[in-house]
Amino acid sequence: MKNIINNIDYQPPGQFEETRYEKIHNVVFDNSNEGSKLVAAEIAALIREKQAQNETCVLGLATGSSPIKVYEELVRMHKEEGLSFANVVTFNLDEYYPMPKKSIHSYHYFMHQHLFNHIDIKPENIHIPDGMVPKEKLIEYCIGYDEQIASYGGLDFQLLGIGRTGHIGFNEPGSHINSGTRFITLDPLTRSDAAPGFFGIENVPRSAITMGIKTILQSKRIVLLAWGNAKAPIVKQTVEGDMTSDVPATYLQKHPNTTFILDEEASMELTRVKTPWLVRDCQWNDDLIKKSVVWLSERTGKSILKLTEKDYNANGMSGLMAQEGVPYHINIKVFNQIQHTITGWPGGKPNADDTYRPEREFPHSKRVVVFSPHPDDDVISMGGTLDRLIEQGHEVHVVYQTSGSIAVADEQALKYARIMQSYDVENERLKEIIEHLKTKEKPFEDSLSVRNLKAQIRRQEAISALTFLGVPLSNIHFLDMPFYETGSIKKKPLSKKDIDLVQDIIKRIKPHQIFAAGDLADPHGTHKVCLDAIYKSIDNVKDESFMKDCRVWLYRGAWHEWDVPQIDMAVPMSPDQVLRKRKAIFYHETQKDGVMFQGNDPREFWVRAEDRNHQTAVKYNKLGLADYAAIEAFKRYRF
Ligand code: F6R
Repeated sequence: MKNIINNIDYQPPGQFEETRYEKIHNVVFDNSNEGSKLVAAEIAALIREKQAQNETCVLGLATGSSPIKVYEELVRMHKEEGLSFANVVTFNLDEYYPMPKKSIHSYHYFMHQHLFNHIDIKPENIHIPDGMVPKEKLIEYCIGYDEQIASYGGLDFQLLGIGRTGHIGFNEPGSHINSGTRFITLDPLTRSDAAPGFFGIENVPRSAITMGIKTILQSKRIVLLAWGNAKAPIVKQTVEGDMTSDVPATYLQKHPNTTFILDEEASMELTRVKTPWLVRDCQWNDDLIKKSVVWLSERTGKSILKLTEKDYNANGMSGLMAQEGVPYHINIKVFNQIQHTITGWPGGKPNADDTYRPEREFPHSKRVVVFSPHPDDDVISMGGTLDRLIEQGHEVHVVYQTSGSIAVADEQALKYARIMQSYDVENERLKEIIEHLKTKEKPFEDSLSVRNLKAQIRRQEAISALTFLGVPLSNIHFLDMPFYETGSIKKKPLSKKDIDLVQDIIKRIKPHQIFAAGDLADPHGTHKVCLDAIYKSIDNVKDESFMKDCRVWLYRGAWHEWDVPQIDMAVPMSPDQVLRKRKAIFYHETQKDGVMFQGNDPREFWVRAEDRNHQTAVKYNKLGLADYAAIEAFKRYRF
């Protein structure tokens, strides 16, 4: 096999001890940028190789969030390195049905926006299934699509993403290995994953045209991209599970030249990543010891202090005993480490020995900055800890990074506009806002005034929640970072202006503690951009004297929680505090009841938050630690 990715790190799956569970070659990158660049480089090399031989390069292309950075890099190579697409013919995997080409939801629109409009491909060389073919002509049309691919000698390279159902293209569970291009019905999970982009599941089409499994498998080379922890379970199932039509991506196990390109999060469930001691001899450091002992405790259903030599031996951990001695010592070491993460004093405990506490004692009253990507992540993710910090006398500032305006439904905005109008009937601006909200065709085409109103609604909700918790108005800050203010789901790239805003407030407050959302599972990426801005700001100011005495703690947002071995500080909550946190979340009224950016979990944010905090407490308890009602968890970021 000759291709860039394999040359870099080729390890045939299943042939080595380490990959014995694996049936598909995969390479794990630190992040999606690095992986995407390499994939783009492989595509570019193929295009150039074909050019040199005066041949056409036939590419199968995907849409969705996964390939966006690959396309960005190809566009960059076209503009900066003269990569030409004149000899390239493309076939896209799929298109929603029915779907007009000019709709912003169409894959036709997506491909032109991200790639075709920026390169020198000939328009006649672009093939994307037509979402408006009359129903009675669909079968004929789909057969024709496969024939066209065959007429070019098949696909040289197929780029894929993977859906959480295990779909490739839109070949949903149940798809046959011999399937050709055809009309299909979308799985409900796929539709719910697409819902935010369509502003609600009811707007997501129920059908699509997709290239078949057989068509995909005939490609000479296949590269599948998967980023983020939401993909981790399906990646494991596909790479390690049996081949089955229930997970159509497992058919790729049959293909001799397929590589999965993963970031660390998407690889997290693979046996060799999650439990490396099951596949090779490990270098046991403290982190790995903690991870393995927690895993062993969960696997055996025994608390840490009850784990025996037999448990260690039977679960691939004899090497650990050889290094560390009898389980008794290992158990105590890990138990103490986890015990020391627990504190009811997230800002440090006055007059107490802080040797084993997550936070230092001095100064007794700390300046604390809590960054919240949207106005509500603060209370959803760390409402209990906020409450304690305030109660324990720290100077707490909450900094909202974005306005969160696009998550306010039109009906909510209309309600507030009408209330205001009832006090000021002749107000022209209100008339304009109401008219716009009543007549606009697309949910995300808000006028500036409407966006401002929506932002104002979220501001007031945030202020009410923090007032309830006791944060003074002067300590509540709204940055309205410009990258977010596009009026649509697609955001601008992070700019210097964004970073300056974050950096300035850090410099102004000179915090002893910074709390930030380390939650990278936000389906729209806003949390990641907000975190990048914080990391970059910290990097810029890290040499200032106040930063020497500043600790950074990462919480996770509405989507998932840190695993126990990752937790550096665990703040327990009493049942009363759980209720106070719930009340604080309730102030964010527009984010209740079927909001637009719910992600894949249909439960309301307060239910999810409570469940997650409860689950963390249960996990701690099962490991043999104290029995709390709920726990909020933080990981320390060392800069
Ligand atoms: C897109 C396609 C789908 C996506 C998959 C992953 O053309 O065929 O199979 O690749 O749904 O989507 P993202 O990349 O958005 O996670």
